[in-house]
Amino acid sequence: MAERFKNKVVIVTGAGKGMGHASAVAFAAEGGSVAVAEIDEAAGNDTVNEIKANGGKAIFVKTDVAQRADVQHLVEETVKAFGGVDVLHNNAGVIRYGTVVDMSEEDWDWMMSINLRASFLTCKYVIPEMRKRGGGAIVNTASVQAFATQRTVAAYSATKGAIVAFTKTVALDHAPENIRCNCIAPGSIDTPLLRFAADVFEPENPSGAIESWGKVHPLGRVGTSEEVAKLVLFLASDDASFCTGGCYNVDGGLLAGLPL
Ligand SMILES: NC(=O)c1ccc[n+]([C@@H]2O[C@H](COP(=O)([O-])OP(=O)(O)OC[C@H]3O[C@@H](n4cnc5c(N)ncnc54)[C@H](O)[C@@H]3O)[C@@H](O)[C@H]2O)c1
Repeated sequence: MAERFKNKVVIVTGAGKGMGHASAVAFAAEGGSVAVAEIDEAAGNDTVNEIKANGGKAIFVKTDVAQRADVQHLVEETVKAFGGVDVLHNNAGVIRYGTVVDMSEEDWDWMMSINLRASFLTCKYVIPEMRKRGGGAIVNTASVQAFATQRTVAAYSATKGAIVAFTKTVALDHAPENIRCNCIAPGSIDTPLLRFAADVFEPENPSGAIESWGKVHPLGRVGTSEEVAKLVLFLASDDASFCTGGCYNVDGGLLAGLPL
């Protein structure tokens, strides 16, 4: 196994489940010391226990990424435990469905605070730590919904489109400090979030919904969290030393085609 993250300290938000869990486990397997930032205490501790059982290094920091004080605490605890921060994977995200007419202001603000504002907060407190290390890498999580969308996701797709733009400016602002910032645009990935969507749209047959969404992707299936983690690790590693400000699809070809 390659050890691209030996002596590197990595923060992954929303690392208790889904794609965050997969990337935290993968970073640790390649030698990274991982801070698991997660609002769900049981899920966060499960990820840490799994990493430790595999011989890796990890701490759990209970974090609501939408709260400034929690994010500051996360960065402080990470530095205290591991001595700095080299990599930030802004992964935590949430979704609720509804047209702009139906959606409450609370749901709109909730998605904005976790999917968008949280990345501002984590970057705000992590970048000063990366400066002390002479550089770093940030990977933000957008979505195919930033580029092509569907009905009832105005709030969610607005947050994801904003993440693509946010990524570019962070990349420009901090390139002179050797801090790279990229984002990923996953298609449908089999996680608890996708299962939640399947329950909303096809409560009678959620597995059937996932199978039919998979068929819309040119590769004929939904993706796995582990497949996404491979892209995240590439972008966070020195293998991607000339990549910054970009958004990379991991979508089974979904955005390549028109629905014709
Ligand atoms: N699953 C997909 O098909 C898909 C596609 C494109 C993009 N995405 C994006 O990928 C990211 C990960 O999605 P997923 O499918 O793995 O989601 P998930 O719901 O399966 O897991 C998300 C994790 O984030 C945690 N979390 C939620 N709110 C938090 C908060 N305020 N503070 C800290 N942790 C919090 C949850 O407890 C959970 O452990 C999200 O940003 C999502 O929008 C998902």
